[in-house]
Amino acid sequence: MSKIQNIAVLTSGGDAPGMNACIRAVARAAIYHNIGVFGVVDGFNGLVENRMKALSYDEVSNIIQRGGTILGTARSENFKLPEFRKRAYQNLKDRNIGALVIIGGDGSFKGGQVFSHEHNIPVIGIPGTIDNDINGTDYTIGFDTALNTIIDAIDKIRDTASSHHRLFLVEVMGNNSGILALNAAAASGAEEVFMPERKEDLDEFEEKVRRALIAKKSSIVVVAEGDALGGAKELLTELKSRGVESDRMRIAILGHMQRGGAPTFLDRLQSTRLGEAAVVALLKGEQNIMVGIANGNVVKVDLDDAQTKSIPKNMQYLKLIRKLSVY
Ligand code: F6P
Repeated sequence: MSKIQNIAVLTSGGDAPGMNACIRAVARAAIYHNIGVFGVVDGFNGLVENRMKALSYDEVSNIIQRGGTILGTARSENFKLPEFRKRAYQNLKDRNIGALVIIGGDGSFKGGQVFSHEHNIPVIGIPGTIDNDINGTDYTIGFDTALNTIIDAIDKIRDTASSHHRLFLVEVMGNNSGILALNAAAASGAEEVFMPERKEDLDEFEEKVRRALIAKKSSIVVVAEGDALGGAKELLTELKSRGVESDRMRIAILGHMQRGGAPTFLDRLQSTRLGEAAVVALLKGEQNIMVGIANGNVVKVDLDDAQTKSIPKNMQYLKLIRKLSVY
């Protein structure tokens, strides 16, 4: 195999804090190893529309601490079609780009995989999503910062909850995964958590809520947006439809604030490790793998296996939450 002269890096799907730290690591590691590096603007759309820029050492200065992604991101519909992928490949070829690094979620990896097989171009995936729902890695870029943001928000909500003896149903992101919700609930001292992976006994929950309200206890319940009922609003409606009429129940939907902000120490460190590891993997001739973190170490996972994981490995947190709950 001839040596790769240039690589391209893109961010795809939802932005996540730490993506910039990763872009910096990919760019600088590539330059260190005498490989040219292009940043693709707005994910796969930029690949199709030929929007790429050469990244220099300085271009990626002072971005390690910034949330979002300096390259822009998108969920590309065009890239699902072979004619657009063909155009994307031509754009890479024209710039003598021999490999692609994709920072994103499993949807982005699937796109990359198809592209790689179709055009015989090496692709390396780096898990980037606050949802932490990718198989084969304990960690995805942005998960830690999002959790810290959620915990911080719940701390603030708690002030009102305890002052007014209220129940707050706090809705968090996570798409179809409850991993974010479960971890946030365990670390914020929530009483209960609702997740897409489980169907909770609503009769039992109703009883607990009634008891807490009568006892004038404040409580926090974390609800994943992908929960079977549909989220915090729907859970509140359900409680009300069961006759739990109380002006001491409120919802708080945290929304996109969970994706923003400066990355935490962990997100900066792991993003940096993964960015460098992706470049080294390409130098070793690896392709169609995801670099991830397992038990603290950088690992390589076949892209085929880097799909959505929906059942949290750490479901034991649920037992912990319930054991320590005021309910
Ligand atoms: O995948 C990250 C994520 O933030 C999910 O948790 C959420 O369901 C989704 O993206 C929201 O996407 P959008 O920003 O397109 O509304």
